[in-house]
Amino acid sequence: MPKPRLSLQTTTLWEYPSQHYGNEEQGSSSYRGATPSYVIWNLLERYTKPKDLVIDPMCGSGTTLDVARDLGRRGLGYDLQPQREDVFRADARHLPLEDGKADFVFVDPPYGDNLKYSGQENCIGELPATDPAYFEAMDMVFQEIDRVLRPDRYLAIYVCDIWKRNAFVPLGVHLSAMLMSRFLPVDHVTVVRGNKDLDKGNYHKAAEESNFFLRGYNHLLIFKKPSEEQAREARREEERAQQPQRSQKPAKEKNRNAGSRPRRKKPNRSGSTTRRPRH
Ligand SMILES: C[S@@+](CC[C@H](N)C(=O)[O-])C[C@H]1O[C@@H](n2cnc3c(N)ncnc32)[C@H](O)[C@@H]1O
Repeated sequence: MPKPRLSLQTTTLWEYPSQHYGNEEQGSSSYRGATPSYVIWNLLERYTKPKDLVIDPMCGSGTTLDVARDLGRRGLGYDLQPQREDVFRADARHLPLEDGKADFVFVDPPYGDNLKYSGQENCIGELPATDPAYFEAMDMVFQEIDRVLRPDRYLAIYVCDIWKRNAFVPLGVHLSAMLMSRFLPVDHVTVVRGNKDLDKGNYHKAAEESNFFLRGYNHLLIFKKPSEEQAREARREEERAQQPQRSQKPAKEKNRNAGSRPRRKKPNRSGSTTRRPRH
């Protein structure tokens, strides 16, 4: 079946019937866990411009580099087990890159230990998603992304929830909450999975008999690093919140008010009472 023309996805439900676009491969179809290239193509079309520097700290078979080249962006890829010469060997928690150099970061991390990658001790794919160590490692990856990304620029994380041995781990929700503490949420996209396992009848039979669901979609979590001004304002607000109240009322007066209704915290313009920079 001929592939449809590649075009920008315009809703938060993304689907394309192939791992690769065009007549060539982006990354490698033989690398287990390779990212569908149209996902990265859509992100780079929307959030980057020609010559921007795109970073993938867990680049595997190099899908991000191929898409970046096709769109005239500069790409830099790292991985613990590089599959080709233009992917550099590095741990995603310690990238050999100066602060604030990247214009965009894409990462498709291991989803716990669902697939075997290098088997190395520092491979995050050795940590089950039920182990807090997995989340500590991913938080270090996010911290490193924060360091290398320029302010006011975007990042995207592609991840799937895990259902294994009777345990459900909503990785999309967990990682999203972790990202919210560092970055500004931009959008959350559902990407329909074209996983070949979903064509297997016995997988569906097992899902019915054991009363679980096969994973039908991946999460695409899109965030933005606050601008320098937004970061400054957030720091100022944090300092203000930590300062002791200067106009403390005397104890007597406090007691007089004891029976009155507690005052509601004044919401900010977006209706939230939390202190985060505005998007
Ligand atoms: C889902 S795959 C990425 C696939 C890639 N986007 C592609 O299209 O080929 C996850 C990758 O994370 C890498 N990885 C695991 N732990 C890592 C770490 N600490 N630092 C860098 N890469 C790591 C694995 O070797 C694997 O290649």
